Amino acid sequence: MGTFKRTTMEPAIIVIFGATGDLARRKLFPALFNLYLNRLLPANFAVVGLGRRLTGQEQFISSVTEAIREHSRQIAPSECQDFLKHLFYLQLDIQNTEDWERLVSFLSELDLTHQTNGNYLYYLSVSPEQFVPIITRLEAVGLNKAGPTSWRRVIIEKPFGKDLASARQLNQALTAIFDEDSIFRIDHYLGKGMLQNILTIRFANSVFEDVWNYKYIDHIQIRASETVGVEDRGPYYDQTGALRDMVQSHLLQSLTLIAMEPPLNLGAEAIRDEKVKVLRSLAPIPEESFAAQVVRGQYGPGIINGQRVKGYLEEDHIAPGSRTETFVALKLFVQNYRWAGVPFYLRTGKRLPEKSFEIIVQFKKLPGVMYFGSGDEIEPNILAITIQPQEGVIFRFNTKDLLSPDERVKPKYMDFTENDSGRTAPEAYERLLYDALNGDSTLFTRWDEVEYSWQFVDRIAQVWQSQPFGPLLYPANTWGPREADLMLARDGRKWITL
Ligand code: BG6
Repeated sequence: MGTFKRTTMEPAIIVIFGATGDLARRKLFPALFNLYLNRLLPANFAVVGLGRRLTGQEQFISSVTEAIREHSRQIAPSECQDFLKHLFYLQLDIQNTEDWERLVSFLSELDLTHQTNGNYLYYLSVSPEQFVPIITRLEAVGLNKAGPTSWRRVIIEKPFGKDLASARQLNQALTAIFDEDSIFRIDHYLGKGMLQNILTIRFANSVFEDVWNYKYIDHIQIRASETVGVEDRGPYYDQTGALRDMVQSHLLQSLTLIAMEPPLNLGAEAIRDEKVKVLRSLAPIPEESFAAQVVRGQYGPGIINGQRVKGYLEEDHIAPGSRTETFVALKLFVQNYRWAGVPFYLRTGKRLPEKSFEIIVQFKKLPGVMYFGSGDEIEPNILAITIQPQEGVIFRFNTKDLLSPDERVKPKYMDFTENDSGRTAPEAYERLLYDALNGDSTLFTRWDEVEYSWQFVDRIAQVWQSQPFGPLLYPANTWGPREADLMLARDGRKWITL
């Protein structure tokens, strides 16, 4: 899977819609700056920020400077000055035809002065209802059309639709204007180093592949927890909820990487072909199994660091009595030969006690003949892939504790994780911007992946809608409703913490 392959990059202009928004400030400009510092941007490039809020170049440059100072993982003031020389701002109201005409001439002038060969990468870092109006305008002024030796690409932020029907509409509009090869549907989790590493761990080590199936694996847990609440994203989040915000994208994408068959090669299409097969194999959850396989929760008030924090319903811009879920736990099955009968437990939520993302593979217990009755704890083997905040792999295995007088068998941990709190590893957005500039779509989702994951998620949302009750309340700073623990306890299992 291709990132930072150090190809000779083609020159390009990166055009950011929503350049004054939160994502651009926290992620996109810092990512571009880090690529620049690491010589991973083309020799000839320009970045055009488009927005409504700021009026001119000076304000824009000072807001980007501040964004880099606050959020960049590397700081280098003199290089920052050089980087900023490549940045330009244009005020654009997407309803205003004259603004679009100005954009066309602005880009063609920059293209000449910066010798960018007519290559434009558009980044739609805007709210979802603006996606279609923007691409329609791009087409109307001819900015989607490349010359014979140049390209036009578009990166679409998530959420890609809010259900299957709206995702289909968006996709139809997009594919009428851009080729599939030029469309980059982002799921920033795919840019996280350890998620990409799953395929390497699975397919570059002979020890794993033979045991990676229902015969040896007891179950798998995929867990994304956050300490934050909805913050200032109430208007978006209240329409969305954890199922659409996290499960449809990040969690199901992670599941495909864990469960997929070996691809024909490491090319984008071969990998995505296998991921789609996993999504197609997800067994729909029948309504009568919801009590056993689906838990939805919503955080209430709670205490964090001695301070009271608001419950979801008290947050800004949340509809009174909202039934939007901030927590989901699911028990899923991938119905194919490899995974028959192996449960995949997914859990995600806001206002949980820690921020982390982990995948736990628990192997089956031994028959218990050898150590039966000896009193030794023979714990099943576990392979934990930790994506954040630690990055790496932990393997739990049993060995004699040679330091104890009775040399009992004890579980031990081989820990190959590194803490990335010093932010040395590239951020997800760096990898993804770099790949889009190189036309490599491996780490972006193909339309059929989006389609099948919405299909799965929509069924759950529909059942919820028809239920007379809403989500279960859990106090902020706890691990969600206890029903999520009971769901595993009924199967004789528990959420594993290492
Ligand atoms: C986003 C969701 O896609 O991912 C947010 O919309 C969530 O609700 C975020 O907070 C988490 O991303 P990360 O990289 O901080 O784990």
